[in-house]
Amino acid sequence: MGFYFVAVGSAFGLGNLWRFPFIVSVNGGGAFLFVYIFAALLVGMPLLVGEFMLGKVMGKSSTAALNIRSWRLVSRFAGALCLIVLAYYAVISSWVLHFVMQLSVRSLEFGQIDPKVILEALRQNGLLQVALVSVHLLITTLVVLKGIELGLEKWVSYIMLIFVVLLIFLLVHTLSLPSAGAALRYLFYPDFTKLGWPSLMHALGHVFFTLSLGFGTMVTFGSYLRQEELLPMAAFRVTLLDLLVSIAAGLLVFPVLLGDPNVQAGPEILFQSMPVLFQQTRHGSLFGIAFFLCAYLGALAASIGLFETIVSNQMDQLGISRTRACWRGFLVGLGLAIVPSIVSLEFRWQQWRGQDVLRTIDDILVNWLLPLSVLAFCLHIAYCLPKSSQQKEFSYEPSALTLFGHWRFALRLLVPALILIALGLQIWGCL
Ligand code: PHE
Repeated sequence: MGFYFVAVGSAFGLGNLWRFPFIVSVNGGGAFLFVYIFAALLVGMPLLVGEFMLGKVMGKSSTAALNIRSWRLVSRFAGALCLIVLAYYAVISSWVLHFVMQLSVRSLEFGQIDPKVILEALRQNGLLQVALVSVHLLITTLVVLKGIELGLEKWVSYIMLIFVVLLIFLLVHTLSLPSAGAALRYLFYPDFTKLGWPSLMHALGHVFFTLSLGFGTMVTFGSYLRQEELLPMAAFRVTLLDLLVSIAAGLLVFPVLLGDPNVQAGPEILFQSMPVLFQQTRHGSLFGIAFFLCAYLGALAASIGLFETIVSNQMDQLGISRTRACWRGFLVGLGLAIVPSIVSLEFRWQQWRGQDVLRTIDDILVNWLLPLSVLAFCLHIAYCLPKSSQQKEFSYEPSALTLFGHWRFALRLLVPALILIALGLQIWGCL
């Protein structure tokens, strides 16, 4: 069970709660959800099997598993992506942390709170943002410092359970709002005319981000798996659970978005819609605090997964102790996190191709750099791992063995082709 909690804990996070509703809203709703589900099952799941396999077969973290000739560059690139995402993630986590604190401190005047003003105040206060980012990174470092079993598994399992109960309760509430019908139609009725050239890449990029693919995280976790664990089953469970949590987040956010003209689509969507929802609920301030606290803990679990990857890579690569690797990671992460904090402060009003700075960073990271890393991992797993080791992972159960051919086809041809097509469409859309 421990493995599932860690893998799901790494998959589940701000990607599901914050990024998914925002990316669905900028891509026009239902049709995008359709493409996204297709991308998760056809591309994400086979890749997840592959990354688990690479870690399990090599029994090492991603850097060590890829530490062969020309692939070393790929592992460096993935390592750099981990650090950049850790920093960027820390900034959004600091927003969540800020909401937990504001809702707690101002619970008596909860009804009058304007979520837009809270977020804006934080985005104008660079010092506060840097302080919150430091706190977040420090907590992450301390958990990873304690070692994987003691820190991760126990924490993540509690967080997940509380969150699922809370999510179900809130869903019952949002689905009884008058705008719920419109939201269901928006989310589940596919209107393909709303899709744009980059939509396929947005769907794939988000699948990679939310399943933590292309970072080496899942390779590292795969190396912790027991010998007889059936990988396709593990990947299926993680993908399905991740998908369900994302859809649940969409169902929470969209009834509010469509029912309140003040809530905007885009990166602020979660932070604006959820407080509005709680203001309409009895004991809303308590639910608000619980929701953002769980969201923060989810973000923390994902950050821990990222940080564990960075630390275990460094330990394997440089032969240094866990303690040294942790503090090095902390310092570099902090240095990098200050950049997006300051940039989002100084250039808040700057637009680039109609997007603000934060969205531009997100776009470059998830829709351009990450697919390249995933493509490299995919080709390595498909063409460099011996066929016999690949097949062995499917042979623990006869029914799984019939999937092997399909999986191999997906990894050798389908996935690389789809990534290249999506990149091509995205470039075409930029011209
Ligand atoms: N998958 C996480 C999310 O959806 C983000 C993440 C990426 C975590 C890479 C770990 C590694 O929020």
